Amino acid sequence: MNFVAALSEKASKNISELEENIRQAISDDPFIFEACEPLIRGGKRLRPMLMLLCANAKNSCPNSRTMPLATALELIHTASLVHDDIIDTSKKRRGVETANSKYGAQIAVLIGDYLFAKAFQLVAENNYGAEVQLILSKLVKQLCIGEIMQDRSLFVVPTMSEYYRRINLKTAIFLSSCCRLGAIVAQLDDSEIERLAAYGTSLGLAFQIIDDLLDFCGDEKVTGKPRGGDLKSGVITLPVVRALSTSDEAPALKKIVTSETVTCTDIDAAIKIICATDAVDYCKTRAEAHIESARVNLPASLKISVALALEQIAEFVVDRTR
Ligand code: IPE
Ligand code: IPE
Ligand code: MG
Ligand code: MG
Repeated sequence: MNFVAALSEKASKNISELEENIRQAISDDPFIFEACEPLIRGGKRLRPMLMLLCANAKNSCPNSRTMPLATALELIHTASLVHDDIIDTSKKRRGVETANSKYGAQIAVLIGDYLFAKAFQLVAENNYGAEVQLILSKLVKQLCIGEIMQDRSLFVVPTMSEYYRRINLKTAIFLSSCCRLGAIVAQLDDSEIERLAAYGTSLGLAFQIIDDLLDFCGDEKVTGKPRGGDLKSGVITLPVVRALSTSDEAPALKKIVTSETVTCTDIDAAIKIICATDAVDYCKTRAEAHIESARVNLPASLKISVALALEQIAEFVVDRTR
């Protein structure tokens, strides 16, 4: 199962149009195209897809109305990844070399800025109005706050509520906003907008919990990003928090995860300790609980095909390997 297979027929057809729009969006400048074309390939397109599905949740919405916004969402997401990889000094993303690794942090910052600006240009040119611009601005601000919060507490073990606050800001608000924006563009009623946004929030929490798990258990060839990256850069996530509260070897684990100078052997030892606990199952169970609340929030008034696609995306989020 992949995201595309989960899509309604219309959204599935739309995906190639979206890909073309994304390429177009990076074509204004030859250097930007050269630098961004490899980066833009290989993403799951979850955010634009959520928006497109919600925009077509009841009646079908013309592509001319949805595509620029869907494209802007993917550009904002990619910009945030370009900046995230600078912060994490990560060398690989979507299976290819990151902008910071290829061009250095200075140029990579500007590539990220360019993608943010291009996204907001598309939104302004297509007259989505102040409400849409406000939702986009707020989601970027909150994503930044989440990333700052994370960066200010590297090598520090977060409480559960600190962890949840961070993943809500970094990821869940973004996914929620995609659903909200689709519902707004489709002029759904207020309760449907709120329910779809709540679906997106729960989906986003589960999505980030699984992402954090994949950092330990994922296959680099499938995820397209380095394994153990969070531990190396000092980002302490749910599997570690759980293992620290249950493992007999918690002191050894704590020593590794809070140390600013870890070796690959330390990382392997930490992964071994974590995997000997129930941390993996615990994270999956937590993610499944969020997925269940995502499902419960889906309004009953949606088209069957869209409701099904949103349910399948929810299922994919917990079972995913990439
Ligand atoms: C990666 O997002 C960043 C997180 C919020 C975990 P995705 O896993 O959606 O990245 P792509 O778009 O598929 O590369
Ligand atoms: C999400 O968190 C990143 C952003 C909000 C940009 P991660 O740092 O876990 O994402 P990956 O694992 O690098 O894709
Ligand atoms: Mg990262
Ligand atoms: Mg991650």
